Amino acid sequence: MNDALRPGLRLERRVDGCALLVIDVPGEPVNTLSASFADEMSHKLDEIERDESIAAVVLVSGKPEGFVAGADLKLLSTLTTANAARELSRSGQAALDRIAKSRKPFVAAIHGACLGGGLELALACQGRVVTSDERTKLGLPEVQLGLLPGLGGTQRLPRLVGLQTALDLMLTGRQLDARRALRSGLVDEIVARPVLETAAVEHALRLKNGAVPERAPAFSKAALLELALARNPLGRKLVFDRARKETLAKTRGNYPAPIRILEVVEAGLAKGLERGLELESQAFGELVATPESRELIGIFFATNELKKDTGADDPSVRPVPVHKLGVLGAGLMGAGIAYVSTAFAKLPVRLKDRDEASLGKGLAYTRQILDGRVRSRRMSPAERDRLMSEITATKDYSGFQDIELVIEAVFEDLTLKQRVLAEVESAAPSAIFASNTSSLPLSRIAEQAAHPERVVGMHYFSPVEKMPLLEIVVTERTAPWVTATAVAVGKRQGKTVIVVHDGPGFYTSRILGPYLNEAAQLVAEGVPIELVDRALVDFGFPVGPLTLIDEVGIDVASKVGKILHYAFGARMQPPPAVEKLLADERKGRKNQRGFYVYGDDKKKKGKKEVDASVYPLLGVRPDQEPSSVEVAERCALMFVNEAVRCFEEGILRSARDGDIGAVMGLGFPPFRGGPFRYIDAVGVASLTAKLEAFARKCGERFEPSPLLVRMASEGKTFHGPERATPGEARRNSM
Ligand code: NAI
Repeated sequence: MNDALRPGLRLERRVDGCALLVIDVPGEPVNTLSASFADEMSHKLDEIERDESIAAVVLVSGKPEGFVAGADLKLLSTLTTANAARELSRSGQAALDRIAKSRKPFVAAIHGACLGGGLELALACQGRVVTSDERTKLGLPEVQLGLLPGLGGTQRLPRLVGLQTALDLMLTGRQLDARRALRSGLVDEIVARPVLETAAVEHALRLKNGAVPERAPAFSKAALLELALARNPLGRKLVFDRARKETLAKTRGNYPAPIRILEVVEAGLAKGLERGLELESQAFGELVATPESRELIGIFFATNELKKDTGADDPSVRPVPVHKLGVLGAGLMGAGIAYVSTAFAKLPVRLKDRDEASLGKGLAYTRQILDGRVRSRRMSPAERDRLMSEITATKDYSGFQDIELVIEAVFEDLTLKQRVLAEVESAAPSAIFASNTSSLPLSRIAEQAAHPERVVGMHYFSPVEKMPLLEIVVTERTAPWVTATAVAVGKRQGKTVIVVHDGPGFYTSRILGPYLNEAAQLVAEGVPIELVDRALVDFGFPVGPLTLIDEVGIDVASKVGKILHYAFGARMQPPPAVEKLLADERKGRKNQRGFYVYGDDKKKKGKKEVDASVYPLLGVRPDQEPSSVEVAERCALMFVNEAVRCFEEGILRSARDGDIGAVMGLGFPPFRGGPFRYIDAVGVASLTAKLEAFARKCGERFEPSPLLVRMASEGKTFHGPERATPGEARRNSM
């Protein structure tokens, strides 16, 4: 075959005997490894072996922005059998094995993303040189897609960086910047971007001449301990037993990939590289065929699609440029928004609050987040100081005149929000007004606005600096360019953004309401608190619903609960238990009185203690023991049924948005893909039947949404070829 048919790899010869093997997948902004990669690589390796003038090779990317981002996931999602996936892994491994065993040394020259298959390719080389650029990131994120590294990563990484580090990287999917990669022994050298190629060539030629000394062994106490552990079978067993226990405690058996990673690494260390590679392919193939992996890859694609979504239905609508941001309220949310706006969106922020004390608190909070980054060496003190100087505090609206976007995060109070909107309309006459309300209808906030077309909701989640989702809320009157601008700013702040239509509780707060109500209802029926929480954690939520109520605040949950009850009637009625708890001055963690016991003496690591005085307060004994599955389904089905209503009413623009919103905003189990993918997987008809059974047993609140009933009879799904369309109820009522 000639080179025109193998355009992904290009061999460039140099006079010094070190050839460049350039990876440059045509027509794509980043390199990914496709099905033909192994074949292409084999041909190039033949050519390299034959050519006497080539003494060493530097593997480098032809893309300005990155090395290799990983395997082509579109390809993976088309593989239908474990065998096909195993074969793909086998052929890739074989090509990489030839690099690893080549007489002519290979050195990877890495700038930008070097992830998954990209890092495995680099691991097969004899040396790795990286740029100091902050975009340079190395990691094996396969576990996040329900997979394991299938191109030798599970075998080569532990042999290079040691068992503990390798397990940490593979089990978390964590990415390392250049400095951390050097410290862990993953790479040999860090250089400035312009000299990457030269440095890699020099490294390769030194390797050829046998002039590169063995890397100095790390003699720290921890490193010695690790060596001792990894080298003797008994020590290894200890490490793996502990890792397996920790992994199962974290995943509750819901994610097969981490356990397979441990198994394959352990077997490879015991039985040798060859056998390890075989087992790796086997496990890779089996994991590709699991529903967990399919759902996680689904989330990955959906998130990527959202990155390209402008948020406006008309794709020709453009956002207006935003150069400066106003934030009202320097509380928990306002300070977090100020942080993501400067640190990620690179926008100067004018932060307004009522008094100096509140401003001081807000600035201190932002500074605390930045200090954390400095401590973990992800930011220099100078950069921290520069970012802090980008946030200027004010008690009035000075400096707001030319601001294009103001985000308010003042108290959750309709009159107050309407008042600050009016103030912003006069202080920043051309600005977009975005509200971070978590429950107030946006149309009410915009009621008296002079420019309702410039009012939008930007609903962040707490803590803003950590939570990945931003829910943008639009009313009938919000102008498309305003939506597009809010979406664009949200993306710059590093968020995954969904756009939903206005309505009580929007999407996320609305579906959370009946879920939390049901959890409280279970306790009121005498189901032990810990049983309820454990059932939902086993189902896959990161924390149980009662823990969540304590964290959010029983008073806050009750306030939102009342709004939803008022709007949607009986099915959203909070159980009387909530009022009884409030009457007992229980607000949750914030006043150290809730479903659990708080306080210094309870800070002991490990288990939280249930506050048993809740039961007599509710007039019950915790002696009911329904199955964990029943408890989980009662709560989860209230959640997904409400999500379907949001779809039906056109609150959601798509099932995709509903899935991502629930997973990223509310912690719906990622391996279930989101509420809509979950319904598809369970089957619309059987889910509807379950809801009907609960409705008979527990009450009408479980009545399946009309759309579900219709879909069950029509055989439609949310993501399949015969799909339901969002907003049917909205269109019918127009
Ligand atoms: P917070 O009580 O921590 O902060 C509110 C801040 O607004 C205070 O610093 C207060 O002094 C300031 N403020 C009051 N009136 C003001 C005015 N006229 N001008 C400027 N500043 C004023 O409240 P938090 O938790 O930050 O919440 C703010 C908003 O964000 C609320 O609407 C809340 O519903 C919403 N939200 C809260 C979430 C949370 O988990 N805390 C999550 C999502 C949204």
